[in-house]
Amino acid sequence: MGIEIKSANEIGLMREAGRIVAETLATLAGALRVGMMTRELDDIAREEIEKRGGIPSFKDYRGYPAYVCVSVNEQVVHGIPGERVLRDGDIVSLDLGAIYRGFQGDAAVTVGLGQVSRQGRELIEATRGALENGIAAAKPGAHLGDISAAIQRHAESKGFSVVREYVGHGIGRQMHEDPQVPNYGNPGEGVLLRKGMTMALEPMVNVGGWRTRALEDGWTVVTADGSLSAHFEHTIVITDGGAEVLTLP
Ligand code: MF3
Ligand code: CO
Repeated sequence: MGIEIKSANEIGLMREAGRIVAETLATLAGALRVGMMTRELDDIAREEIEKRGGIPSFKDYRGYPAYVCVSVNEQVVHGIPGERVLRDGDIVSLDLGAIYRGFQGDAAVTVGLGQVSRQGRELIEATRGALENGIAAAKPGAHLGDISAAIQRHAESKGFSVVREYVGHGIGRQMHEDPQVPNYGNPGEGVLLRKGMTMALEPMVNVGGWRTRALEDGWTVVTADGSLSAHFEHTIVITDGGAEVLTLP
């Protein structure tokens, strides 16, 4: 199976799925409070997705036990909401997916809570910027490696490292479709991008080294050296002149 090209109708449904994800993420980000348990975010995620007619996509995906991933500080991705209490200065990554009439949206943001360290704030901005640069490199006639390289170049130019063991991905009827979209690579390499390809770009950027390890819960990924990590993700479609972000309110 090659990379699927979506029709205008399918892209319309992915835009709706993306809107549900983006609006729910905004509600979650606005609900963050010092002293709250991360579990409270899971209830909000489910309600906000379902009241918009969406189906949460993470719950029970390969056994994942929640509706949203909440990854704090040195946690990179796939943190499970639970009894952890958020503290002033935490950086909190929220990753969310939803399905609308059979089509998927997937996005993530990292939000600083209260008085975040300068390094934490710079990491968040560098990761957001890496995603923006990746989106800017996505257009017909470019190669996948142009996206990867743009993400990597931006993150590393700020003195940070990009995670290697987890990558972005094609998306559509399935959350994970071809191709894999690494956050590192070389311009001009990889598949040629064509109008109608849909993918999720998701840089995960660390203050220290790029290596990660998984915790005993089988899900939570943390930096190997305990340094801070941030994560931003958008679902996009390649258009005539460039790319459209589908995970917008
Ligand atoms: N956005 C992530 C991804 O693209 C999270 C999915 S993991 C899940 O892989 F298990 F929570 F679904
Ligand atoms: Co994703």
